[in-house]
Amino acid sequence: MDDKVWDVLIIGSGIAGLSAAVRLARKYDVLLVTKGKLYDCNTDIAQGGIAVALGEEDSPFTHFQDTMSAGDYLCREDALKVLVEEGPVCVKELIDWGANFDREGENLDFAKEGAHTIRRILHAHGDATGHEIEKTLLIKVREFKNVYFLENTICLKVEVKNNVCWGAICFDNNEKKILKINSRVLILATGGAGQLYMRTTNSLFSTGDGHFLGFDAGAILEDMEFVQFHPTAFAKEGAPTFLLTEAMRGEGGILRNNKGERFVYRYHPLGELAPRDIVSRAIFTEMKESGAQCVYLDMTHFKRSFLENRFPTLFKKCLEYGIDISKDYIPVAPAAHYIMGGIKTDTFGRTTVKNLFACGECACTGVHGANRLASNSLLEGLVFGKRLGGYLLEMDINSGIKDNFIGNGYFKEDECPFGDEIFLELKKRMWYQVGIIRDEEGLKSALSFIREKLDLLQKSKSVSCRVYEMIFGTAYLITLAALNRRCSRGGHFRSDFPTKGECGNMHLDLKKDMGEVIKVFWEE
Ligand code: SIN
Repeated sequence: MDDKVWDVLIIGSGIAGLSAAVRLARKYDVLLVTKGKLYDCNTDIAQGGIAVALGEEDSPFTHFQDTMSAGDYLCREDALKVLVEEGPVCVKELIDWGANFDREGENLDFAKEGAHTIRRILHAHGDATGHEIEKTLLIKVREFKNVYFLENTICLKVEVKNNVCWGAICFDNNEKKILKINSRVLILATGGAGQLYMRTTNSLFSTGDGHFLGFDAGAILEDMEFVQFHPTAFAKEGAPTFLLTEAMRGEGGILRNNKGERFVYRYHPLGELAPRDIVSRAIFTEMKESGAQCVYLDMTHFKRSFLENRFPTLFKKCLEYGIDISKDYIPVAPAAHYIMGGIKTDTFGRTTVKNLFACGECACTGVHGANRLASNSLLEGLVFGKRLGGYLLEMDINSGIKDNFIGNGYFKEDECPFGDEIFLELKKRMWYQVGIIRDEEGLKSALSFIREKLDLLQKSKSVSCRVYEMIFGTAYLITLAALNRRCSRGGHFRSDFPTKGECGNMHLDLKKDMGEVIKVFWEE
């Protein structure tokens, strides 16, 4: 491993990395490294579906408008145009490769979710859409013999000299050894950061590594304060937190407070199907005012057979925890779900570091603006992974590579004085102080806690400390951005600055410079 120079190294096995790998395999030797098993990613557990303008009454233009409106008009227009216009071709290709989306007779069955003005969400096996897509892409990628997989291996550092990326240092948890992986091109496709929060819908592996790796390598990160909290995650005491897809509300599910009242229309005319940031804040406010630990999702007006058929996974899962959704209200509360901010890229996945690319949730193409429209994330991974792959196929990536460049002595496999209790403390702080409703006092307190831990972690060279450093590093960047954006927009709400104010129209870039974080607000 240490001697080979790979054409392309991809970090992450979700939809974006796989979508890129399928193209790249036509020309290049690709190594795909992933922290867990191949299926351990947010793509695999995605429920609701993939939004795409394929229906007869739909159009890319309407999809564009809905995304803009949910994104609170902060979406980057060029990227969003690419998403909605190239989406249909990418999804048709996925269907040709065997993705079996649910149908009504011969025709694709489109579902509705929040802030969509039309039914445009494709789903598979009711509520197991992500698994169908992940499986299809993995089967497709495996047709190519020049794509190699390395599971249980975590990327610790992206290697950069003079703003050019040369590969990465990883830790192979199978063999318990450090790997120096030389590559001509590196793609970060590590997914989300939901696990930085106490309550999350994300896979256990979504700890925001890619965001920190990109930042540490010198790339610009954009809009890190925009975190989306999904309104409805299971919230029964003693049970795990898991997502209850927005498609349940799309089908007519009703949100009730602890008095049984349907409350969301008091907050927005679209009620249960208002944009997610609004519904989450409405639930949060109801819970705060009543002192209750949850609100309820009411599906009891549907026939049992419909629920078993349309939401088979969730029907069984809720039953496991004593909730029969055809008879009982489901206890729900918001949970961290998606980060709109990330490594700034153009529409070909290029970052501000040469030979370093990013796609999927760890990237910020700008399509989601301040709040992502439901079911746009799988589409983003698919479309921008493909574009990035296509771009690299056209390039001469062989120029300028030096073999075996990476030095020794970065990380050692010794003990780290930190344990999981400190990670739990971070998750609590992020939830309470950098969560759905934020203010200066809480953000400052979280920031100083994180800074103090980061200072300790950065003194160590142990692999485990580096893993925590990546987690705390991304948490630091989210908190710093949230503290500096003294206004409210989309997923970022400051109780001390509740209006859009002046900075509401701006984007916020973060970049490392001589050990400091440079902050730049800019307007399109
Ligand atoms: C859901 O099924 O509600 C999640 C879909 C998404 O986050 O886009």
